[in-house]
Amino acid sequence: MKVLIHNSAELAQQSVADILVHRIIARPTSVIGLATGGTMEAVYDKLIAALSDRNAPVDDLVTFNLDEYWGLPPGHPASYRSYMNARLFDPAGIPQVRTNLPDGDATDPIVESNAYEQKIKDAGGIDIQLLGIGQNGHIGFNEPTSSLASRTRLKTLTESTRKANQQYFDGAETTPKYAITMGIGTILDAEECLLLATGASKAEAVFKMIEGPLGAHCPASALQLHPRATIVLDAAAASTLQLLEYYQYVHPNGLDKHPSHA
Ligand code: PGA
Repeated sequence: MKVLIHNSAELAQQSVADILVHRIIARPTSVIGLATGGTMEAVYDKLIAALSDRNAPVDDLVTFNLDEYWGLPPGHPASYRSYMNARLFDPAGIPQVRTNLPDGDATDPIVESNAYEQKIKDAGGIDIQLLGIGQNGHIGFNEPTSSLASRTRLKTLTESTRKANQQYFDGAETTPKYAITMGIGTILDAEECLLLATGASKAEAVFKMIEGPLGAHCPASALQLHPRATIVLDAAAASTLQLLEYYQYVHPNGLDKHPSHA
């Protein structure tokens, strides 16, 4: 795992946007895995600016989002389809026909999940998968005790996840209980994983992901198995890491000198 620690959330968000834009310029036909949530909002603002500043080509990208609420039509204002259209696809000019999310309106979530897996395969697999992390250690909507080999499927959300997401809905009653999410095995198949966590509320999950035992209790710990996982943090999210000084020594100020991240 490569652990890059920045002094502020803003620097961490910018570095994630820079890594993505670098990949897109190097390979305009990239297949990019995308995430939603509060953490990604600033990343997408910075990504849109960086794509435009560098005149990066976006017409040939293909994207796959990690997850979508099940039971919400794509046009619902709190669906992840609406989030992605408003926060990234439309402002960046990424053609919607090349963007994929699970269909939250699917009548049969098993059929939809299998079709989503097949679509990823048909696209040649995901080159780089962007990830956030839940306070409970979830990636995508793979809640604790998800199989580390799981594929795209319907998951029941934990109460803590529903509480965290309630702010986007009218109240507890209308906050979805289910989501279709890529599995942990699906995520691990990506050629590269790029996870961003900011803020003290993520510090415990970050510690378990990077330094805790590998296990379904913290789904993000599965990234310990991935040969190319980069974890980008701000100081607050990194604050409980036991090997903090080591990570800072290897990558001072979160700078990555590796040529692939130039
Ligand atoms: P957040 O969600 O960015 O809104 O904190 C992250 C996640 O739950 O994966």
